[in-house]
Amino acid sequence: MSTKDKVLHDLLRSGGEPVSGQQMADALGVSRTAIWKCIKELESEGYSIESVRKKGYVLHRRSDEITDVRLSPYLETERYGRIVHTYESCETTQMIAHDKAQLGADEGTLIVTDEQTAGRGRLMRPWSSPNGQGIWMSLIIRPNLSMKEAPQVTLVTAVAIVRALETVASIDPVIKWPNDLLVGGKKIAGILTEMQADPDQVQALIVGIGLNVHQQPSDFPDELKDEATSIAIETGETIERARLVAAIMNEMERFIDMYEKNGFEPIKLLWESYAVTTGQRIRATLVDEVIEGIARGISDDGLLQIEEDDGTIRSLYSADVTLQ
Ligand code: BTN
Repeated sequence: MSTKDKVLHDLLRSGGEPVSGQQMADALGVSRTAIWKCIKELESEGYSIESVRKKGYVLHRRSDEITDVRLSPYLETERYGRIVHTYESCETTQMIAHDKAQLGADEGTLIVTDEQTAGRGRLMRPWSSPNGQGIWMSLIIRPNLSMKEAPQVTLVTAVAIVRALETVASIDPVIKWPNDLLVGGKKIAGILTEMQADPDQVQALIVGIGLNVHQQPSDFPDELKDEATSIAIETGETIERARLVAAIMNEMERFIDMYEKNGFEPIKLLWESYAVTTGQRIRATLVDEVIEGIARGISDDGLLQIEEDDGTIRSLYSADVTLQ
């Protein structure tokens, strides 16, 4: 990471608090003039940085904000990400998206926040969403699907995020069924798909995406330190969140359109090429039982196929999977 990137990283992580130029100079082993030059370079790249007397430098929130204005130069979509509701803080973007979907929000409406105070993951687990350090967003989509097909959308989303991360962040995550994206065995992103449906027709899907961007290991809660990673940890780079959000929107719309037109088969093949589970021995924890066996890919419906030791093939709709 260059000194300029390290300075940017410190400013982003401070969450809008001043960062002392002297402290950055000491920590990075460079002069204060070198830090000042980095600040000037960042300003020339469009970052808005204020110098507060006796306190240090403050990066204004709009520098890495995710708003319609910041997304639009990167968006190639017709619908996804064209209506954006940006929050500084909220409990969970899922609830806001549910409310907006209920009130008839258009397909592609995106709810995004800098911080969640009650972010949630699958199986009602909490989802750590610290201020400005990741992408915490919920996308409203209205595909023409039955309830049975809805889980496939999580798999389509996983493929879209892998593609976006390859392009924008130069990392190659793998997918752990159904919704985890891993780099080096650690989780970098998760997907939570929730549904609003009539008995035979999906009205809306709320696709929640959590993606760790700027965190350092010390930013994760103790219980996640060995299990989670971020783009900054993996690449040493400070990427612009809006660019990545736009890339995810571009890939999502492309893949969902492909899925609605050609069915699940092409996506299934792509998904399997990225999946870490296929051919591995896994343990799947269900609500009332634990199954062990070899993962044999996914069915045409998107269900995980697991071959038990006696040769029985079981199809799992939802489970917590660990590799053995
Ligand atoms: C998981 O891996 O269990 C899914 C995590 C999903 C987290 C995202 S962050 C944005 C949206 N709002 C939430 O409360 N959860 C999802």
